[in-house]
Amino acid sequence: MEVFKCRICGDPYVGGSKPSHCPFCGAPSNYIILAHDWQEPEAFELTEVSKADLEHALMLENNNALFYTCAYEVSMNVELSAMFKALAKVEAEHASVIRKLLGLPKPIEEEDNRGRCQALDQGNIKEAHDREKRAIDFYSRAAEVAIEPRIKEVFTALVEIEKTHIELNNKYLGTFSGMQNPII
Ligand SMILES: [Fe+2]
Ligand SMILES: [Fe+2]
Repeated sequence: MEVFKCRICGDPYVGGSKPSHCPFCGAPSNYIILAHDWQEPEAFELTEVSKADLEHALMLENNNALFYTCAYEVSMNVELSAMFKALAKVEAEHASVIRKLLGLPKPIEEEDNRGRCQALDQGNIKEAHDREKRAIDFYSRAAEVAIEPRIKEVFTALVEIEKTHIELNNKYLGTFSGMQNPII
């Protein structure tokens, strides 16, 4: 067994080999290193642009985590519910990574996720796709303009991660396309 650490979220993973993606933030394996080789990222000053982009990113990730939590709670399908729950955890982890970069404390109260999603699965799969697309577009631009290497790295990883969410959503969009949904 080895101990690994993710360079994006910093969380440790114990296993026989590197996972293909970080189980916490979803970063691909190239961001996962042996804990033995870990070096703390150096302290740096945030530019005003990055601070504003991180603040927007925090709102986006919090909203998406609430959306996915709501979606898994309303889903009657075991597989879809599992996917939404997994994505809720990943997006909450992204919010946590961003909060740390901004130097903000953990929120004390959990926000209410009721009414944050649609009533039926098919609508939520489509909405998930749109949310991930918006996140990818935003992070791509934010990665491009960030001049701090650490911020560029995090935004770049987030683009890669949210792309895997689109792939996952597309898979279910096809599988469940026959589902009735009066909302769309
Ligand atoms: Fe991670
Ligand atoms: Fe995210």
